[in-house]
Amino acid sequence: METVKLTIDNKHVEVPKGTTILQAAKQAGINIPSLCYMNLPHLAQEHKPGSCRVCVVEIPGKKTLVPACVTKCTDGMEVLSHSLRAINARRTVVELLLSDHPKDCLICPSSGNCELQKLSINMGIREINSVENAAISTYRKDSSPSLLRNMDKCVMCRSCETICNEIQTVGALSAVNRGFMSVVAPAFEQDLTDSPCTFCGQCVAVCPTGALTAVDNTFHVIRALADPTKTVLIQTAPAVRAALGEEFGYTPGTLVTGKMVAALRALGFDKVFDTDFAADLTIMEEGTELLNRISRHLSGDKSVRLPILTSCCPAWVNFFETNYSDMLDVPSTARSPQQMFGSIAKTYLAEKMGIKRENMVVVSVMPCLAKKYECQREEFKVDGNPDVDYSITTRELAHLIRMGNVDFKSLKDEDFDRPMGESTGAGVIFGATGGVIEAATRTAYELFTGKKTGKSRFLRTKGNGWDQNRYYRF
Ligand code: FES
Repeated sequence: METVKLTIDNKHVEVPKGTTILQAAKQAGINIPSLCYMNLPHLAQEHKPGSCRVCVVEIPGKKTLVPACVTKCTDGMEVLSHSLRAINARRTVVELLLSDHPKDCLICPSSGNCELQKLSINMGIREINSVENAAISTYRKDSSPSLLRNMDKCVMCRSCETICNEIQTVGALSAVNRGFMSVVAPAFEQDLTDSPCTFCGQCVAVCPTGALTAVDNTFHVIRALADPTKTVLIQTAPAVRAALGEEFGYTPGTLVTGKMVAALRALGFDKVFDTDFAADLTIMEEGTELLNRISRHLSGDKSVRLPILTSCCPAWVNFFETNYSDMLDVPSTARSPQQMFGSIAKTYLAEKMGIKRENMVVVSVMPCLAKKYECQREEFKVDGNPDVDYSITTRELAHLIRMGNVDFKSLKDEDFDRPMGESTGAGVIFGATGGVIEAATRTAYELFTGKKTGKSRFLRTKGNGWDQNRYYRF
């Protein structure tokens, strides 16, 4: 492999030809700040529009500073990443960005999780030298069941556009207009709800500011918990117990199932259940449907659709509805675990507990924003009453726990309620791409042969090297 040798801040570095200064600096342990640059190696996606200029560095002898994220290293190059000139320019760039940005950090949903705020703190910016009384660009706010768009906070990094178009292939977002009015929006600046947006939420995950955020349902949940006429149930998805601990200082991935259940009871939830229970129901449905489709196909029924694809992800179902309406019979007809749980809770369980449907509130904690949209779909309501009333994310749950003044770390482990807290564990393999259909094929095999699959796996159903656990969870 051809390499080039250079120095960055007097450190000798040797990197493959074609490497950018930003990548070479990272390799040498030197941090060059960036904003519009986004690297998602697990998705083989590098987004480098080179537009913000936060990453500028000095190359002695060169008249202008260069952006490190798009400038390739050359042999003998000398790079000064933190010279006075580079620092001053970077500071000016951030000040200019802030001059056209709302100053509501204290109440911004992204406060504490905002790249622009972090840059401003790290650079010690204490005042913004904007022209007195100069107007800042303002846009219409856009709200959907899952996401909020506040483009006043957009820094035009266009990461959302890349993930929406290149990774999700949804094509809901693109840059429109020019100059101060330029913004990333759906075509013709439609609302998200009228666009092909599937509410997958990946744009929210990559947005470096508060321009794209999740709809917050925590106050609806608090109101329900405070209402003595309501019985409030909660179901938690398998990913939540592995992600929640991080919010309270545990190593990422630590399982905090027992503490999570105890915290939910401390907050006042009447019953705490595991969505894995409903995942088992989904698998029985999907496995039976697969078996049925294969049997019909083998007996010569040409109308049957194969292969079967799972229907657990509402964004995926929405993607089919919007883009492939002629293939709606390909995904399974089974409801997702969230919705199966909701409908069982508001029928079987409500009757068992002697509660009227309208006096039961079902909350779900999910690692996905599309679940907020899914539970509002009309087909999941009975006389206007939804099977699942509110879906919240792991982060919203962490806020609820903090708001409730629950000392998470000192809680003693507790168990899910029965009977809807029990599960076989099939739901756990849902977490990896291909896991749902693997569980469905295993079930179909067992239903057909009457034998256990044991440790044998249906590996061909697994994703093509994609690890969904490394995809964005909320
Ligand atoms: Fe390099 Fe934006 S991070 S130009």
